[in-house]
Amino acid sequence: MYDFDREIDRHGTWSVQWDGIADRFGVPDLLPFTISDMDFASPPEVLAALRERVDHGVFGYTDWRLGEFREAIRHWYASRFATEIDTDALVYAPSVLNQLSQLLRMWTGPGDGVVVHTPTYDGFRKAVTGLGRELRGVPLGDLEALERELARPDSRMLLLCSPHNPTGRVWTEEELTVFAELAERHGAAVVSDEIHADLTTEGHRHIPWTRIAEPGRGRRWALVTSGTKAFNFPALSGSYGIVGDPDERTAFVRRMETGEGLASPAVLSLTAHIAAYRQGADWLDELRAYVAGTMSTVRERLATGLPGVDWEPPQAGYLAWIDLRPLGIEEARLQEELVAVEKVAIMPGGVYGTPGFVRLNVGCPRKKAERGVDALVRAAGRLRTT
Ligand SMILES: Cc1ncc(COP(=O)(O)O)c(C=O)c1O
Repeated sequence: MYDFDREIDRHGTWSVQWDGIADRFGVPDLLPFTISDMDFASPPEVLAALRERVDHGVFGYTDWRLGEFREAIRHWYASRFATEIDTDALVYAPSVLNQLSQLLRMWTGPGDGVVVHTPTYDGFRKAVTGLGRELRGVPLGDLEALERELARPDSRMLLLCSPHNPTGRVWTEEELTVFAELAERHGAAVVSDEIHADLTTEGHRHIPWTRIAEPGRGRRWALVTSGTKAFNFPALSGSYGIVGDPDERTAFVRRMETGEGLASPAVLSLTAHIAAYRQGADWLDELRAYVAGTMSTVRERLATGLPGVDWEPPQAGYLAWIDLRPLGIEEARLQEELVAVEKVAIMPGGVYGTPGFVRLNVGCPRKKAERGVDALVRAAGRLRTT
């Protein structure tokens, strides 16, 4: 029903992915596979709702508590995740990272530790260290290290990425329950960033943190998320969260509205969220199938082009996180080759604290994704030392 093969020229749209490429890679005109937005237009249903709102013509102050925003979120969680959420527990913020910063200020102090999985989404590192907190990384799947870091007396928060960026890992209910128990035992707050939750692949089920926390585990927890990632409208801004404890929630809202001056949300963001959550399910399901098809192509091309690289598609998301360490290539050398010879921009693993990997964004028409993986295969094939 929807055409994900259509290439849309994003040059000249002030796109960080396309127009801002020289800022990160030093060279303009590279084919980009970088930060996590997609080259697809938002669902037609979302565009129609936005047009209608724009045509109304008046953009006076608004309030996220008015209208259908909270009800649309409730409907989405019930229909997609079989989860009933308490709409009174919802909060709004301009972005997920903004929400995270507020929660870091509320639940941790300067110098305190914030425990994350490694590799780590670079936005987490910037938020945590930028506020003078210490990022304490534990390798994915290492429960002993997780307990050790949470047990440090000044570790005050477990910051989860669920599903996990950049690996695409979808946590199981059992894993999440262990995280909750460890955080509770050691008195750490939990913030679960679930912005990638809508992008799971067939066979993987996302479990919202509300389901894990609700039996009464820990007072300080929040789920932070938005529809901007899955429906590709991050530049409209806007996010929402669920803050479990009523007093903590009141404190959060007061902080946002008085301390931060957030009186009126972005009305086009509310409009887009409501349309996406009410009418976007078919588009999203087709998108997920399309990305899964692209990931299969990536797998085939890596398997034939780079023997020794054992790669499986992610459980969620449109980011291919590829371990190139078996090839024995220095990260900086590979980047040079990709940029200077292949003219592509692909994120180096070092950005996420794990050199030797790359993160290839394939949220784009398949032809473009093929050009990216082929460039990677050629560059790595020339430089491999094993
Ligand atoms: C895990 C995660 N959280 C948050 C964000 C950014 O969200 P926002 O633009 O709402 O701050 C991203 C964007 O890539 C992300 O991957």
